[in-house]
Amino acid sequence: MNDVLEVQSAISNQQSTIKKGRILTGDRPTGPLHLGHYVGTLANRVKLQDTYEVFLLAADYHALTRAVDKEHVSATVGNTRQLVLDYLSVGIDPEKTTIYVQSDVPSVCELHLLFSMLTTVPRLERVPTLKEIMDSEHIEQPSYGLLGYPVLQAADILHVRANLVPVGKDQASHVEVTREIARRFNFQYDCEVFPEPEALIGDVPTLVGTDNKAKMSKSLGNAILLSDDEATVRQKVMNMYTDPTRIRADIPGNPDGNPVFQYHDAFNPNVAEVEDLKSRYRAGKVGDVEVKKKLNSALQNFLAPIRERRAHYEAQPQLIDEILEAGRAKVTPISEETVRLAREAMGLRRKA
Ligand code: TRP
Repeated sequence: MNDVLEVQSAISNQQSTIKKGRILTGDRPTGPLHLGHYVGTLANRVKLQDTYEVFLLAADYHALTRAVDKEHVSATVGNTRQLVLDYLSVGIDPEKTTIYVQSDVPSVCELHLLFSMLTTVPRLERVPTLKEIMDSEHIEQPSYGLLGYPVLQAADILHVRANLVPVGKDQASHVEVTREIARRFNFQYDCEVFPEPEALIGDVPTLVGTDNKAKMSKSLGNAILLSDDEATVRQKVMNMYTDPTRIRADIPGNPDGNPVFQYHDAFNPNVAEVEDLKSRYRAGKVGDVEVKKKLNSALQNFLAPIRERRAHYEAQPQLIDEILEAGRAKVTPISEETVRLAREAMGLRRKA
């Protein structure tokens, strides 16, 4: 080995040893991500990629739990690319974070099967998201796959033996199932193959919608997308819900529970400006238009670098394929090693 290579490898060894642990997280490729995803989890993912070894997956198998028709499946393929674009545009760095597609790493399915023996049906029936999904998607009877959704998620997290899972608040119950499975496996087979990973929820666990409905969601039509252009964002901000009792600018208003101010708090770095707007709002000394215009400026500033990175990657579509292939190549041996350790711990016959 020449000197330069030696130094480089020493540095990269050092870097990998100073990492605090492993992260695995991801999303179903079902549509564009929005500001709620950003504050709920993406910000954490970007921040932690320097200190953790991060794996990020597009959960295309999970997308099949809702619908299985061919159109849905082929939409998932396009949505996967859009999801990766969203990741890259918010500043996920493919040099630091391993991005891959779930179905590109099939060894996770073996772990899913092994884990499915360690969880009971009533336990999975009690996971709150099951009922939520069934209600929102009008599903009368869950498929075996939908019931097992959190078990597959546990396999995702544990096939890289991750310690930390930055997710939105709605996913906390799935991380809990993951912890139970890890514990159960280690106990059952008297081993320490799996860590018990922790969920990490963002600073603003739930961002309200532009219409003040409890949650920002694309399907409710109350979301500002990370991919929205300037005019769309402006229009969405100017149409936002505000304190309905305030029909004139000189009537005192309430910034609490007001989505415009929640967004200011989350996205406007100028704290003094936000405090000034709030006190003038309470005193009936500022109009909604001014508050919204300032929010629009803050959001456009926040989105500017995101748009710039998106344009960079959109101009080179082959980069996404390369990133996903590199991700697959990086995760596969780790996943296979985990499956080997699990089989060994269980005393299953080794594959020839
Ligand atoms: N269930 C997650 C969601 O809908 C997506 C997901 C799949 C995931 N596998 C995961 C998240 C593993 C974290 C870790 O958002």
